Amino acid sequence: MGDMEKKKADWYKDLIVYQIYPRSYMDSNGDGIGDLRGIIGKLDYIAELGVNAIWLTPIYPSPCYDNGYDISDYRSIDPMYGTFDDFIEFRDGCHRRGIAIIMDLVVNHTSSHHMWFQESRKSRTGRYSDYYIWKDPVDGHEPNNWAGSFGGSAWEYVPERGQYYLHLFSKEQPDLNWECEELREEVVSIIRWWGEQGVDGFRVDAISYLEKAPGFPDSPEPPFSTGFALAMDICSNREGTHRYISELNRRAFAPYHMMTVGEVNCRKLSDYHDYASQSRHEFDMCIPFVPPIVEINTWSPLAMKKSIMETYEELKDDGWWARFLSNHDKPRQVSLYGDDGKYRVRSAKMLCALMEMLPGTPFVYQGEEIGMANVYYGSIEEYDDPSTQDFYREMIATGHTPEEALREAQLVSRDNARSPMQWTAGVNAGFSTGRPWLGVNPDSSEWNAESQIGDKDSIFSFYKEMIALRKGSEAIRRGDLRFILPDDPAIFAFERTLGSESYFLIADFSSDPVPFPVDLSGYGDVVISNTGRVAIDKDMVLEPYEAIVIRKM
Ligand code: NOJ
Repeated sequence: MGDMEKKKADWYKDLIVYQIYPRSYMDSNGDGIGDLRGIIGKLDYIAELGVNAIWLTPIYPSPCYDNGYDISDYRSIDPMYGTFDDFIEFRDGCHRRGIAIIMDLVVNHTSSHHMWFQESRKSRTGRYSDYYIWKDPVDGHEPNNWAGSFGGSAWEYVPERGQYYLHLFSKEQPDLNWECEELREEVVSIIRWWGEQGVDGFRVDAISYLEKAPGFPDSPEPPFSTGFALAMDICSNREGTHRYISELNRRAFAPYHMMTVGEVNCRKLSDYHDYASQSRHEFDMCIPFVPPIVEINTWSPLAMKKSIMETYEELKDDGWWARFLSNHDKPRQVSLYGDDGKYRVRSAKMLCALMEMLPGTPFVYQGEEIGMANVYYGSIEEYDDPSTQDFYREMIATGHTPEEALREAQLVSRDNARSPMQWTAGVNAGFSTGRPWLGVNPDSSEWNAESQIGDKDSIFSFYKEMIALRKGSEAIRRGDLRFILPDDPAIFAFERTLGSESYFLIADFSSDPVPFPVDLSGYGDVVISNTGRVAIDKDMVLEPYEAIVIRKM
């Protein structure tokens, strides 16, 4: 990113972000784990897609209990991913191609291997004693009923201090104490340090939990079989958390013109808005945290449409949006929202058209551009993700058979999105010459980048077309949004307008043909279609998962 572009206060509005899960992207040295040199070798592929930003999930040193979301050193690169020189080469390679670099900032918690924690656990009076959240036992037990989100209690006892520490995630991820001023200074200096290294922005992990529920009361959530209950909601979106984020913005993000996207747990749109409001100077945009299990049970095209319309109304005058259907915490979008069988190509293209035509900054998750689908491993041992393991244990503990537990785990597992990127039809999908850290989806013989790159009808080519259309149109990037047929359960139809420039997207978000009840035949020309349609008829019947983009004459 040239400095000129970054100097525009709202440069983040024109980004299309490609999310890379480095462990699973491309392995250059045959150890079965993706790495920076692997990514560097794929920068031309990424540039060909047309995106102009890359978000890397954490690549800092980590014992990897949660694949890098447990950082043990914030200022270097895990040797598993390469050297700092590799990082610099990656940075320069991105910037040369006009691609901004967004790193992941994980500061709700560290790894238990971080030096701060190793010191903090030693005594109640040292330099780092207050960097974490320590509590005395209550009647010889945990201080309250809070559950860690990967199973068991959120409290772990440390005999040296005679106290428990809090971990809202796994016990290897102790929560930082944001009331501690020295800790806050450390985080400011870490962000500024990366700013000096030329990083263009941060996706900020689990950031709505910085200030915990005052008095640490028991959680009212329904308990798991262990008796412990999640406390994420009562620890979210507190006034102190907003204060801490504003401070980070003022002292670290803003001086470097960084693009920031916060991952936040919000039940109410107004809470979400608070983080993304331009007048509050916290984040440029947010990723709402929606656990897959909730979404799998509740999503529908209509619910998605309503949520899009409501979010747009909430943010349109003051705020911005991060929009995505996939990431490393969710099942694959073509499996969850589309059809990974008969209509795989068409539904993958329809989902792409929808994301690229909406307002906000779109995020593309590695592999969605070639229609990668869920991977259904045949045994629980093949899964790596700690939350999948915990989910399976809980299913068994609550009376399900191993077969039932596995079937459900296959649907919700985060490993669906983490299986290696499918580059070729060859061994290990061309991801590694060694044994991949996580099993490759056997469908890679058919679904891979190599077979799609030169094929004008492929999902990859469709992504290129949609991204190019978006980049070339101010109306699509920044224009107003107007839905028609807001209550139709299958049809998504909306217009994007800025000045005299307008586009319409019409999509059938279902596996059935649907008559389109509005006459748009005089609107303009079809510029993109996933079915080969060349003109809009008065009495048009949409084909399953059809998507059409029309430009106003
Ligand atoms: C959200 C990240 O996306 C997820 O992968 C991680 O497990 C948690 N935050 C904890 O850091």
